[in-house]
Amino acid sequence: MESCCSLHVLVALMLILQSSNYHINASSSASTRPLNLHKTDTQYIKTSCKATTYPKLCYTSLSVYADKIKTDPQLLASAALNLSLAATRAASTVMNRLSKFHGLKPTVAAAVLDCVEMIGDSVDELQQSVAEMGRASCGESDFGLLMDDIETWVSAAMTDADTCMDGFDEHGLHGRVKNVVRRYVVKVAHLTSNALALINSYASTKSSSP
Ligand SMILES: *[C@@H]1O[C@H](CO)[C@@H](O)[C@H](O)[C@H]1NC(C)=O
Ligand SMILES: *[C@@H]1O[C@H](CO)[C@@H](O)[C@H](O)[C@H]1NC(C)=O
Repeated sequence: MESCCSLHVLVALMLILQSSNYHINASSSASTRPLNLHKTDTQYIKTSCKATTYPKLCYTSLSVYADKIKTDPQLLASAALNLSLAATRAASTVMNRLSKFHGLKPTVAAAVLDCVEMIGDSVDELQQSVAEMGRASCGESDFGLLMDDIETWVSAAMTDADTCMDGFDEHGLHGRVKNVVRRYVVKVAHLTSNALALINSYASTKSSSP
Protein backbone atom coordinates (compact mmCIF):
# COMPACT_ATOMS: atom_id res chain seq x y z
CA MET A 1 0.00 0.00 0.00
CA GLU A 2 2.57 2.54 1.12
CA SER A 3 5.21 1.55 -1.38
CA CYS A 4 5.82 5.12 -2.36
CA CYS A 5 6.12 6.53 1.10
CA SER A 6 8.80 4.89 3.17
CA LEU A 7 11.46 7.33 4.22
CA HIS A 8 14.37 5.91 2.26
CA VAL A 9 12.30 5.72 -0.90
CA LEU A 10 11.27 9.31 -0.42
CA VAL A 11 14.86 10.41 0.17
CA ALA A 12 15.98 8.59 -2.99
CA LEU A 13 13.23 10.30 -4.97
CA MET A 14 14.15 13.69 -3.63
CA LEU A 15 17.75 13.13 -4.67
CA ILE A 16 16.73 12.09 -8.17
CA LEU A 17 14.61 15.19 -8.53
CA GLN A 18 16.91 17.61 -6.80
CA SER A 19 19.89 16.74 -8.97
CA SER A 20 18.41 18.59 -11.92
CA ASN A 21 17.23 21.58 -9.93
CA TYR A 22 19.84 23.89 -11.37
CA HIS A 23 17.64 24.38 -14.43
CA ILE A 24 14.86 25.85 -12.37
CA ASN A 25 17.23 28.21 -10.60
CA ALA A 26 19.15 29.31 -13.63
CA SER A 27 16.91 32.13 -14.76
CA SER A 28 15.40 33.18 -11.46
CA SER A 29 18.70 33.54 -9.65
CA ALA A 30 20.30 35.40 -12.53
CA SER A 31 17.44 37.85 -12.59
CA THR A 32 17.96 38.94 -8.99
CA ARG A 33 21.49 40.05 -9.81
CA PRO A 34 21.67 43.61 -11.04
CA LEU A 35 23.25 43.73 -14.48
CA ASN A 36 24.43 46.69 -16.48
CA LEU A 37 21.24 46.89 -18.48
CA HIS A 38 20.00 49.75 -20.54
CA LYS A 39 16.92 51.12 -18.91
CA THR A 40 14.98 51.52 -22.15
CA ASP A 41 15.54 47.84 -22.98
CA THR A 42 14.26 46.56 -19.65
CA GLN A 43 11.39 49.04 -19.85
CA TYR A 44 10.43 47.60 -23.23
CA ILE A 45 10.42 44.10 -21.75
CA LYS A 46 8.39 45.23 -18.74
CA THR A 47 5.79 46.88 -20.98
CA SER A 48 5.59 43.91 -23.35
CA CYS A 49 5.24 41.50 -20.44
CA LYS A 50 2.02 43.23 -19.38
CA ALA A 51 0.34 41.40 -22.27
CA THR A 52 1.18 38.03 -20.69
CA THR A 53 -0.65 36.05 -18.02
CA TYR A 54 2.44 35.91 -15.77
CA PRO A 55 4.02 39.34 -16.21
CA LYS A 56 6.36 39.05 -13.23
CA LEU A 57 7.85 35.74 -14.35
CA CYS A 58 7.97 37.14 -17.88
CA TYR A 59 9.98 40.12 -16.76
CA THR A 60 12.35 38.31 -14.39
CA SER A 61 13.09 35.56 -16.89
CA LEU A 62 13.57 37.84 -19.91
CA SER A 63 15.14 41.00 -18.51
CA VAL A 64 18.53 39.22 -18.26
CA TYR A 65 18.47 39.12 -22.07
CA ALA A 66 17.60 42.82 -22.40
CA ASP A 67 20.95 43.64 -24.04
CA LYS A 68 20.25 41.15 -26.78
CA ILE A 69 16.52 41.79 -27.18
CA LYS A 70 16.65 45.60 -27.05
CA THR A 71 13.22 46.63 -28.40
CA ASP A 72 12.83 43.90 -31.02
CA PRO A 73 9.53 41.98 -30.69
CA GLN A 74 10.92 39.06 -32.72
CA LEU A 75 13.91 38.63 -30.41
CA LEU A 76 11.65 38.98 -27.40
CA ALA A 77 9.31 36.24 -28.63
CA SER A 78 12.27 34.09 -29.64
CA ALA A 79 13.95 34.44 -26.22
CA ALA A 80 10.65 33.57 -24.48
CA LEU A 81 10.28 30.51 -26.68
CA ASN A 82 13.84 29.41 -25.92
CA LEU A 83 13.18 29.71 -22.19
CA SER A 84 10.04 27.66 -22.54
CA LEU A 85 11.98 24.96 -24.41
CA ALA A 86 14.76 24.93 -21.80
CA ALA A 87 12.24 24.55 -18.96
CA THR A 88 10.43 21.81 -20.85
CA ARG A 89 13.69 19.91 -21.40
CA ALA A 90 14.46 20.17 -17.69
CA ALA A 91 10.99 18.86 -16.83
CA SER A 92 11.44 16.06 -19.33
CA THR A 93 14.73 15.00 -17.72
CA VAL A 94 13.15 14.93 -14.29
CA MET A 95 10.10 13.00 -15.41
CA ASN A 96 12.28 10.49 -17.22
CA ARG A 97 14.32 9.87 -14.08
CA LEU A 98 11.18 9.57 -12.02
CA SER A 99 9.68 7.07 -14.46
CA LYS A 100 12.69 4.77 -14.03
CA PHE A 101 12.24 4.72 -10.29
CA HIS A 102 10.65 1.48 -9.18
CA GLY A 103 9.16 2.45 -5.83
CA LEU A 104 6.10 4.23 -7.18
CA LYS A 105 2.51 3.18 -6.73
CA PRO A 106 1.11 1.85 -10.05
CA THR A 107 -1.35 4.73 -10.47
CA VAL A 108 1.39 7.25 -9.84
CA ALA A 109 3.78 5.40 -12.16
CA ALA A 110 1.11 5.52 -14.88
CA ALA A 111 0.63 9.27 -14.38
CA VAL A 112 4.39 9.74 -14.59
CA LEU A 113 4.56 7.77 -17.84
CA ASP A 114 1.74 9.87 -19.30
CA CYS A 115 3.70 12.97 -18.37
CA VAL A 116 6.93 11.65 -19.87
CA GLU A 117 5.11 11.16 -23.14
CA MET A 118 3.33 14.49 -23.12
CA ILE A 119 6.37 16.47 -22.10
CA GLY A 120 8.40 14.64 -24.73
CA ASP A 121 5.83 15.78 -27.30
CA SER A 122 6.10 19.31 -25.97
CA VAL A 123 9.87 19.28 -26.40
CA ASP A 124 9.38 18.28 -30.05
CA GLU A 125 6.71 20.92 -30.60
CA LEU A 126 8.78 23.65 -29.02
CA GLN A 127 11.91 22.61 -30.92
CA GLN A 128 9.98 22.91 -34.16
CA SER A 129 8.73 26.30 -33.03
CA VAL A 130 12.25 27.52 -32.24
CA ALA A 131 13.40 26.36 -35.68
CA GLU A 132 10.47 28.05 -37.40
CA MET A 133 11.02 31.20 -35.40
CA GLY A 134 14.53 31.22 -36.84
CA ARG A 135 13.06 31.01 -40.35
CA ALA A 136 10.55 33.76 -39.54
CA SER A 137 13.43 36.05 -38.56
CA CYS A 138 15.08 35.46 -41.95
CA GLY A 139 12.14 37.18 -43.65
CA GLU A 140 10.21 34.12 -44.79
CA SER A 141 7.46 35.15 -47.18
CA ASP A 142 4.80 32.90 -45.64
CA PHE A 143 5.13 34.66 -42.31
CA GLY A 144 1.47 34.29 -41.37
CA LEU A 145 1.61 30.56 -41.94
CA LEU A 146 4.77 30.17 -39.88
CA MET A 147 3.16 32.07 -37.03
CA ASP A 148 0.04 29.90 -37.22
CA ASP A 149 2.23 26.78 -36.96
CA ILE A 150 4.17 28.15 -34.03
CA GLU A 151 1.02 29.23 -32.22
CA THR A 152 -0.47 25.75 -32.74
CA TRP A 153 2.62 23.95 -31.43
CA VAL A 154 3.05 26.22 -28.47
CA SER A 155 -0.60 25.89 -27.43
CA ALA A 156 -0.30 22.11 -27.78
CA ALA A 157 2.75 22.19 -25.50
CA MET A 158 0.80 24.24 -22.99
CA THR A 159 -2.12 21.82 -23.04
CA ASP A 160 0.29 18.93 -22.48
CA ALA A 161 1.72 20.61 -19.39
CA ASP A 162 -1.75 21.28 -18.00
CA THR A 163 -2.87 17.71 -18.64
CA CYS A 164 0.24 16.36 -16.99
CA MET A 165 -0.44 18.44 -13.90
CA ASP A 166 -4.05 17.30 -13.74
CA GLY A 167 -2.83 13.69 -13.79
CA PHE A 168 -0.77 14.30 -10.69
CA ASP A 169 -3.59 16.03 -8.91
CA GLU A 170 -5.78 13.01 -9.58
CA HIS A 171 -3.34 10.33 -8.53
CA GLY A 172 -1.92 11.96 -5.45
CA LEU A 173 1.84 11.74 -5.69
CA HIS A 174 3.36 11.99 -2.24
CA GLY A 175 3.29 15.61 -1.05
CA ARG A 176 6.93 16.64 -1.23
CA VAL A 177 7.77 14.73 -4.41
CA LYS A 178 4.66 16.10 -6.02
CA ASN A 179 5.67 19.61 -5.07
CA VAL A 180 9.05 19.23 -6.75
CA VAL A 181 7.50 17.77 -9.91
CA ARG A 182 4.83 20.43 -9.87
CA ARG A 183 7.39 23.20 -9.72
CA TYR A 184 8.89 21.98 -12.98
CA VAL A 185 5.61 21.49 -14.76
CA VAL A 186 4.08 24.74 -13.53
CA LYS A 187 7.18 26.56 -14.70
CA VAL A 188 6.79 24.95 -18.14
CA ALA A 189 3.12 25.90 -18.31
CA HIS A 190 3.71 29.50 -17.25
CA LEU A 191 6.75 30.13 -19.44
CA THR A 192 4.99 28.56 -22.40
CA SER A 193 1.87 30.63 -21.83
CA ASN A 194 4.03 33.76 -21.75
CA ALA A 195 5.89 32.72 -24.90
CA LEU A 196 2.58 32.22 -26.69
CA ALA A 197 1.36 35.69 -25.67
CA LEU A 198 4.59 37.32 -26.88
CA ILE A 199 4.50 35.35 -30.14
CA ASN A 200 0.91 36.52 -30.65
CA SER A 201 1.90 40.15 -30.09
CA TYR A 202 4.84 39.77 -32.45
CA ALA A 203 2.63 38.20 -35.11
CA SER A 204 0.06 40.98 -34.77
CA THR A 205 2.67 43.75 -35.10
CA LYS A 206 3.86 42.11 -38.31
CA SER A 207 0.43 41.63 -39.83
CA SER A 208 -0.70 45.18 -39.06
CA SER A 209 2.36 46.62 -40.85
CA PRO A 210 2.90 44.59 -44.01
C1 LIG B 1 18.08 27.13 -5.90
O1 LIG B 1 17.40 28.17 -5.24
C2 LIG B 1 17.19 27.91 -3.87
C3 LIG B 1 16.41 29.07 -3.27
O2 LIG B 1 15.88 29.92 -4.25
C4 LIG B 1 18.55 27.76 -3.18
O3 LIG B 1 18.35 27.47 -1.82
C5 LIG B 1 19.33 26.64 -3.83
O4 LIG B 1 20.61 26.56 -3.26
C6 LIG B 1 19.45 26.89 -5.31
N1 LIG B 1 20.09 25.74 -5.95
C7 LIG B 1 21.04 25.88 -6.87
C8 LIG B 1 21.57 24.63 -7.46
O5 LIG B 1 21.46 26.98 -7.21
C1 LIG C 1 16.90 30.96 -29.45
O1 LIG C 1 17.55 29.75 -29.76
C2 LIG C 1 17.99 29.66 -31.11
C3 LIG C 1 18.50 28.25 -31.31
O2 LIG C 1 19.33 27.85 -30.30
C4 LIG C 1 19.04 30.73 -31.36
O3 LIG C 1 19.49 30.65 -32.68
C5 LIG C 1 18.42 32.09 -31.08
O4 LIG C 1 19.40 33.10 -31.23
C6 LIG C 1 17.84 32.15 -29.69
N1 LIG C 1 17.10 33.41 -29.56
C7 LIG C 1 17.41 34.33 -28.64
C8 LIG C 1 16.64 35.59 -28.68
O5 LIG C 1 18.25 34.17 -27.79
